Amino acid sequence: MLGEYSKDMKQRGVTIWFTGLSGSGKSTITQALAQRLRDRDCKIEVLDGDIVRTNLTKGLGFSKEDRDTNIRRIGFVSHLLTRNGVIVLVSAISPYRAVRDEVREKIGDFFEVYASAPLNVCESRDVKGLYKKARAGEIKQFTGIDDPYEPPLNPEVVCETHVESLDESVDKVINKLEEMGYLSSMAVTA
Ligand SMILES: Nc1ncnc2c1ncn2[C@@H]1O[C@H](COP(=O)(O)OP(=O)(O)OP(=O)(O)O)[C@@H](O)[C@H]1O
Ligand SMILES: [Mg+2]
Repeated sequence: MLGEYSKDMKQRGVTIWFTGLSGSGKSTITQALAQRLRDRDCKIEVLDGDIVRTNLTKGLGFSKEDRDTNIRRIGFVSHLLTRNGVIVLVSAISPYRAVRDEVREKIGDFFEVYASAPLNVCESRDVKGLYKKARAGEIKQFTGIDDPYEPPLNPEVVCETHVESLDESVDKVINKLEEMGYLSSMAVTA
């Protein structure tokens, strides 16, 4: 169930779904990748978990049920965009495998990127200071501390952000997108 190339043949609609622990690098890679794709004149949209939770999925918490609802709603919007030829970049912890696979099934053109770094590395980065709060018991149901994370079994790309540079991570994604025909390798950068 592959979408059509857009008129300019530079891209085909796809949802690039970043999953991984907090601090694993999802948003950082998403932003860098978004810029690289814009430079190639691609039509893209970014759905970052933090922003989505302030509007589309506002009011949802972090129980398994709410987390799954969060993912299904993001997946719904991603599907609409993807089938219209947009490259959608989703960045969300999305800790549960089953609902990620459900969304993969619905969207079809689904490209999963596992932002992988050991918990201790993510915790030492503590970009938002949330691990500290979770360890202090000020935040409950924090993924990796007192809530589960189920890594993907067969992601399209794994970015090991504790051993590779941001550029290497972005290159991996771009190369695989080209290899799978979502992005034309002929695309000329501006
Ligand atoms: N190869 C790499 N790719 C991405 N990030 C990296 C890499 N190497 C180091 N980092 C650093 O790791 C941190 C990742 O933080 P980021 O906010 O992107 O995580 P996140 O997965 O979006 O977390 P959250 O789920 O809390 O939003 C940043 O400080 C970034 O600079
Ligand atoms: Mg983020």
